[in-house]
Amino acid sequence: MSDTIRVLIEREDVEKRIQEIADQINKDFEGEEVTLICILKGSMFFTCELAKRLTIPVMIDFMQASSYGAGTKSTGVIQIKKELDDSIEGKNVIVIEDIIDSGRTLNFLLKVLSDREPKCLKLCTLLNKPERREVEVDVDYNGFDIPDEFVVGYGLDYAQKYRNLPYVGVLEIDG
Ligand code: IMP
Ligand code: MG
Repeated sequence: MSDTIRVLIEREDVEKRIQEIADQINKDFEGEEVTLICILKGSMFFTCELAKRLTIPVMIDFMQASSYGAGTKSTGVIQIKKELDDSIEGKNVIVIEDIIDSGRTLNFLLKVLSDREPKCLKLCTLLNKPERREVEVDVDYNGFDIPDEFVVGYGLDYAQKYRNLPYVGVLEIDG
């Protein structure tokens, strides 16, 4: 079995968009500092590329969530697999996600994080699949709306593979 990957968003376009988001965050948080929460593992590349382009003081922390469910369908039952190292109370927090699909993971994580009383809590995602939404999530910074197709690259995986591709591609599984 071999997988074919069709380029959906070229590396240059991903990086150009990340620069635009960074410019917006630099403007929105001028004179302040921010804590980026990288949601492992998918958003590690996006978090790094974004953080490199921020000119305001930045702290980075990590969190990992897993959703229980049969097959590829998320049940909405989410477990925190890795907790933050530091408190976010009183901090400007931006959650960095690779992709928002059903919205269940973020809906849960944002509730958990807002209970910790950050000064502000924003959500930034590289990719967004609006057609797939099952629960509402407010996205503050969105890289790209994409169609309902399974994508890999730029941190996103299929069975832990393809995270390292420097572009976003649609996975076409051949027999
Ligand atoms: P949600 O809770 O349904 O929004 O799930 C979001 C998570 O599902 C993401 O953080 C990804 O790990 C995974 N995911 C959703 N769509 C894709 C995709 O097209 N490619 C790779 N992973 C995906
Ligand atoms: Mg994943």
